[in-house]
Amino acid sequence: MTAQIIDGKAIAENLLNSIKTRIQVRLDAGKRTPGLAVILVGEDPASAIYVRNKRLACDKVGVRSVAYNLPHTTTEPELLKLIDELNKDESINGILVQSPLPAQIKDEHIIERISPNKDVDGFHPYNIGRLAVRQPTLRSCTPFGVIKMLEYSGIELMGLDAVVVGVSNHVGRPMALELLLAGCTVTSCHRHTKDLAKAIGTADLVVAAAGKAGLVKGDWIKPGAIVVDIGINRLPDGKLAGDVEFDIAKTRAAWITPVPGGVGPMTVATLMENTLLALELSEV
Ligand code: GUN
Repeated sequence: MTAQIIDGKAIAENLLNSIKTRIQVRLDAGKRTPGLAVILVGEDPASAIYVRNKRLACDKVGVRSVAYNLPHTTTEPELLKLIDELNKDESINGILVQSPLPAQIKDEHIIERISPNKDVDGFHPYNIGRLAVRQPTLRSCTPFGVIKMLEYSGIELMGLDAVVVGVSNHVGRPMALELLLAGCTVTSCHRHTKDLAKAIGTADLVVAAAGKAGLVKGDWIKPGAIVVDIGINRLPDGKLAGDVEFDIAKTRAAWITPVPGGVGPMTVATLMENTLLALELSEV
């Protein structure tokens, strides 16, 4: 078997085009354009690339993006003050603080300070809680992007045995909640999981979000399974690789996402959708 490749880049382009149209329709009706504040603290090169891609997506769909490039010496009170100002600013519908943050700033303090209505990353405990109680509002971009990409590909999730590898607050945990909401039987695997190969070997759907290149061996994949690779790892030769051994996994899976060009573009497109949704919700 050779898996069908799920082209996240193409699906994301489609989504971006539909968001662009929705924003244009708003403008034609005399309504406001969404505004997104994108905050980068420090000079981490990978973060700088992610942030650039987010700002480019804003330009593409017609979201007004406001860039804050802060020095790596920024203190937590300074960043909290900026968040407070942006929470009050009516022209800003979404606030995105790129992680990781420098060690002197606690991630959770920042996330919890962002108004849940402007939390377009979907990281605030309120928004994670909404997803947990089956009333999602602003949903974490990567997990929600994965769901949209699978739906777009015509893959029925109801009743599937799904394994999520990785339990991070930003990706693995909300991914498990999304799959539960979609009707899957969900197993979350992590560093204390006794037999990862066994769990993966029985899964209809594997979502890898551990951030470790090659952690998921290709020959663990059940024939005919769906494989979604969220990992983005830089190899010593400079190339990007996911968490799954792609070349072997694709000979067993029915569907598989590549890295790059899989989940990554969906995250950015979902951020645009969340920013538009945050504006729409502020108007009702
Ligand atoms: N760092 C890596 N991915 C993300 C993301 O989706 N959002 C934010 N805020 N930071 C990130």
